[in-house]
Amino acid sequence: MTVRVLLVGNGGREHAIAEATVMSPTDVKLYAIMSYKNPGIAKLCDDYRIADLTNFVAMKEFIQRIRPNFAIIGPEAPLGAGIADFFEEYNIPTVGPKKSLARLETSKAFTRELMQKYNIEGLPRFRVFESSEGLTEYLEELGQVVVKPDGLTGGKGVKVQGDHFKTLNEAYDYAMEILSKKQKVVIEEKLEGEEFSLQSFVSGETVLDFPVVQDHKRAYEEDKGPNTGGMGSYSDANHLLPFLDENDVKQAHAITEKVAKAIMKECGEAYRGVMYGGFIKTANGVKLIEYNARFGDPEAMNVLPLIKSDFVEVCQALVSGKLDRVKMEFENKATVCKYAVPEGYPGKPVKGETIDLSLVGKDARVFYASVEDKPEGLVMLGSRAVAFVGIADTISEAESIAEFAVSRVKGPVFHRSDIGTRRLIERRVKHIRRLLQNNDGSKD
Ligand code: GLY
Repeated sequence: MTVRVLLVGNGGREHAIAEATVMSPTDVKLYAIMSYKNPGIAKLCDDYRIADLTNFVAMKEFIQRIRPNFAIIGPEAPLGAGIADFFEEYNIPTVGPKKSLARLETSKAFTRELMQKYNIEGLPRFRVFESSEGLTEYLEELGQVVVKPDGLTGGKGVKVQGDHFKTLNEAYDYAMEILSKKQKVVIEEKLEGEEFSLQSFVSGETVLDFPVVQDHKRAYEEDKGPNTGGMGSYSDANHLLPFLDENDVKQAHAITEKVAKAIMKECGEAYRGVMYGGFIKTANGVKLIEYNARFGDPEAMNVLPLIKSDFVEVCQALVSGKLDRVKMEFENKATVCKYAVPEGYPGKPVKGETIDLSLVGKDARVFYASVEDKPEGLVMLGSRAVAFVGIADTISEAESIAEFAVSRVKGPVFHRSDIGTRRLIERRVKHIRRLLQNNDGSKD
């Protein structure tokens, strides 16, 4: 029987999902709903529709005609707007949680309070404010803080002391700005450590992990410049990271398992989709920074090309509550992903300019993101344009492959040449070593 899969989304992450879907040994037909025509996804599809991803009514005719066996939802906005609930009315199960469960990503206050209520470890000190009452005192109590608006902000709303502002007065002003928009604000202690992404398939109480990845959010080399959606990422052949051991990944997995159980109890139904934990390894163990209810972008492009299991079979098991009956296995390969982004990104990106990929060669995997195929060539739309993924036995070899490809893109783009390099990774390893040593010293 042919399995009809509907993909919702149009970025690099969704191109990787599309590729994993059509590579499945299952007989598959792929369909997509995109807000613009991603040339990589369009090529892999049997049919597609261009529609606003949160305008569900505009999808009705298409989904009724293709009658997908299940849908995979790429980005957070349709999940937050309730696409899984809408699709359920048409008997289309989704890899992606319903609106109430997607609060794991769409409300930072919800996730923190859930973890607190169910006594789940990995929680930094935090408080949720709906007014300024007690705000000054709490900022002073914590000393070093992170200020988070409660809702979705496209990765650009969280501000960290020392990175985005210096003083507690500035933290106060930013918190007040959020409160003035009738939004809740979460104030948390600032954690020091190294961040990593653990993406898991979750169905009820069953949690199956993808290999861990480290993303690079800052726009420029050496982690300088404004925050972006992620400029690139790497993973290691042993499915750990050079600064992370098996015990750290076990801690992160245990947190996700407990959150999966807790959210089912809290919402009265099972979470079915991706839980992508943004974790941080600190001197006091692994802590949770935030959850996303979807795959990471770029992180999806590191892990999906490594899957050895039948991706479609695993997705079917997930949506039907039988994830405990399947396994997910991955190639023991290292990966490095680097995005070519338009000059001026993220603040004032050039748009409408063409890029030429004719010199990038064939060694790296190419994932199209914010680009469209036009008569004049491959035209950039303003966000991260094209990602290149090197896959090899070591991070260093994978980095060379990705760097060769991304540096040969012709056009007004830039990329981070330091991602996946030995120098940057050694800095991360030394950072953790220093934190652990200081912690040991402070116990003497
Ligand atoms: N890599 C960051 C994100 O997907 O949110």
